[in-house]
Amino acid sequence: KKVAIGVDVGGTNTAIGVVDSEGNVMVKDSISTPSHGDIDRYINELTVAIKELIKSVKLVNSDVEILGIGIGAPNGNYYSGTIEYAPNLSFKGVVHFVELLRKSFPELPALALTNDANAAAIGEMIYGGAKGMKNFVMYTLGTGVGSGIVVNGDLVYGHDGFAGECGHTTLIPGGRLCGCTSKGHLEAYCSAPGMKRTAFEIMARDNAADSLLADKSFKELDSKMIFDAAEKGDKVALEVFELTGKWLGQGLADTVHHLSPEAIFLFGGPTAAGDYIFKPTRESLENHLLPIFKDKIKILPSKLKPGDAAIVGASALVWKEVEK
Ligand code: BGC
Ligand code: NA
Repeated sequence: KKVAIGVDVGGTNTAIGVVDSEGNVMVKDSISTPSHGDIDRYINELTVAIKELIKSVKLVNSDVEILGIGIGAPNGNYYSGTIEYAPNLSFKGVVHFVELLRKSFPELPALALTNDANAAAIGEMIYGGAKGMKNFVMYTLGTGVGSGIVVNGDLVYGHDGFAGECGHTTLIPGGRLCGCTSKGHLEAYCSAPGMKRTAFEIMARDNAADSLLADKSFKELDSKMIFDAAEKGDKVALEVFELTGKWLGQGLADTVHHLSPEAIFLFGGPTAAGDYIFKPTRESLENHLLPIFKDKIKILPSKLKPGDAAIVGASALVWKEVEK
């Protein structure tokens, strides 16, 4: 039985899983992504965790054949296998991720890295709601906002391999500071931390001591808490979703104007809030679209299983590689 390993490098955790050809996660584990850039130690820990997982699948399935490791990472570059100047990771400059990991796995047929949102797009295309779609965009909302663009059935990498940094498009000139040091980017508004900032801004504006979110510190507040508060009718939480959707829809309209996709998929923690986020997003999108696109673009939740999606997406890169 042929299987692939998927690694998702996240802002705080790195998730690792062994995935079969149907996209089922057989075993998984996670290690913390370092908060200060000790890359060699991190690669060692990752190596150990991957080898342990391989051992444990082989115990139950003696006939498994590991085809390779697919890695999804913020600011990842498929061409060079590097992670470069990631605003939401502690690694500085250019990290030669594939080259470093290769030393531990010289025998594996495929070792490839791509941007995390690209990996999610590949996962959606192979196992999720984008099966059979030739033109779609995946937006991932998390610590950052990423996107993976598929045109005519192929993921768009661009000249240098960094295509699809839609989170860093300017939404509000001179607006909030983004992690990348520019101002007003979509990511500063529609990421999970962006939503928290919105909540705190509303509470400060309204002196909203009675909000269910009022006693939360910035650190502890998360998009799930905002969702729960919205369910209880909390005005601050409801407005956070309204505003996030308004901003996101505006950003998505630009994407539609650039690419004319069939659908845009939304993926990540904040999308668990369902209609609270999808409804204002769709409304705002329609308000910003040219007439030629109106009522034509589907805004869909990712069909990948939340906890496993990033791993599955990253593993899907391996199948793409061995197909070549
Ligand atoms: C990075 C992207 C990444 C996204 C989600 C952004 O800040 O620039 O490369 O895909 O965050 O992690
Ligand atoms: Na991308």
